[in-house]
Amino acid sequence: MISKSFNLNVNCLIKPFNKTVEVDPDKSLSIRSFLIGAISQEISHANNVLESEDVFSTINCLKRLGVSIKKRGNKSYAIYGKGLGSLFAKKNTKLNFGNSGTLARLLIGILSTTPNLKIKVQGDHSLNKRNMKRLIELMSEFGAEFAPKGKHNFPLEMTSSEMPVCFKYNAGVSAQLKSAVILGGLNTFGTTEIIEKQKSRNHTENLLKKNLQSIKIVNGKNNLIKIYGKKTLKPLNINIPGDPSSAAFFTALTLLNRNSFLKIKNVGLNHTRVGFYELLKKHGAKILFKNLKKNNNEIYGDIIIKSSKIKPIRASQEYYVKATDEYPILFIIAALTKGISIFKGIGDLANKESNRVKEMQKILKQIGVKTISSKGQLKIYGNDNLNKKNKKIKVPNLGDHRICMSAKVLSLITGIPVRIKNFETVFTSSPSFLKIMKSLGAKFEIKK
Ligand code: S3P
Repeated sequence: MISKSFNLNVNCLIKPFNKTVEVDPDKSLSIRSFLIGAISQEISHANNVLESEDVFSTINCLKRLGVSIKKRGNKSYAIYGKGLGSLFAKKNTKLNFGNSGTLARLLIGILSTTPNLKIKVQGDHSLNKRNMKRLIELMSEFGAEFAPKGKHNFPLEMTSSEMPVCFKYNAGVSAQLKSAVILGGLNTFGTTEIIEKQKSRNHTENLLKKNLQSIKIVNGKNNLIKIYGKKTLKPLNINIPGDPSSAAFFTALTLLNRNSFLKIKNVGLNHTRVGFYELLKKHGAKILFKNLKKNNNEIYGDIIIKSSKIKPIRASQEYYVKATDEYPILFIIAALTKGISIFKGIGDLANKESNRVKEMQKILKQIGVKTISSKGQLKIYGNDNLNKKNKKIKVPNLGDHRICMSAKVLSLITGIPVRIKNFETVFTSSPSFLKIMKSLGAKFEIKK
């Protein structure tokens, strides 16, 4: 399903609010639930699934690979597991991952070690631009091949490994690549080992954790993840919490607005995902986590936020893996906070849905905020008293949901008019974004 395209105009400050909301379910966990359910035994159940474009792309790809998925009620799905190594595709089958890098990398992980597959893989205009070199190199270790040789972006043709072998991987900052190796490793002969220095999001590990025959994690200064191949997986039964990355935009709106209060209920608060909140708390933000609970090894709870005066943000490299998707909105907070903010170790943002450093610099330039980027670092010369006269923000069609949502928050807080092209890309992660904004009193215009 492709959403109809539309542009969004905002031309009005938001008023103070005092509200309780729930955000859309977590994207990372939703995609992983379908993928892992498909290669598990028996029937898996996923409840409170995110019904967004990226998740629909996941369901469609799996159906093309012979997996039966049935909707059982409101946001609840049954996934009829085919077991390891059993996904099947006729020769020359095409898979379209849409906008989703997570789906692309994780599913290619699974398919690389599923024998007898020759598949054409591609995405939308944003995903087709993203560099897949590291993924191709890693999957080649399993024995998979990609054509044309030397091409590092989709469309590509992949041929899976006939004799999938294990290897040892020194993981970097990417949770998607780590997950691709974990999922591929599940169907290899032998034990795949992953050494993890920077601890990126661990949802894949958490969903597999009860399969003691398949996965062993030794936590330490560096984590060691061992995947024992060719052992069958038990079915999943999961309730997915709210997405902390979607909640970040409403958190920022509340912090920056006057006299406002917001409670966001049932948000996933896995410690590998909450860098945004920890960083802001350290810089003066009034944010509390309350009512903490656990389901399927994942912590969730309520986030309470009050308007705050933030200090210039110093984000060391360690925050990158814990706040990966929150940098565009962090840059907005920094731009509206007096003083120089510095973000280090953010080089990988260049290969997201768009080049997020470059594109955010362009937006901040339009409101007269100076930025300097060099060597994987960004400096923002923030101003809490912007001259708004004759200013306008224009955001082109980037196919980047997080930049669209960030630009909207910027306009609501400053009153500077914004025109955002192809806002429908927000439906890849947050179909309720506009509805929640409306409930907080935001005014905007949809241009079809
Ligand atoms: C994700 C990992 C991150 C993140 C993406 C979702 C995941 O990407 O930016 O939105 O679900 O594993 P990288 O692994 O490329 O850092």
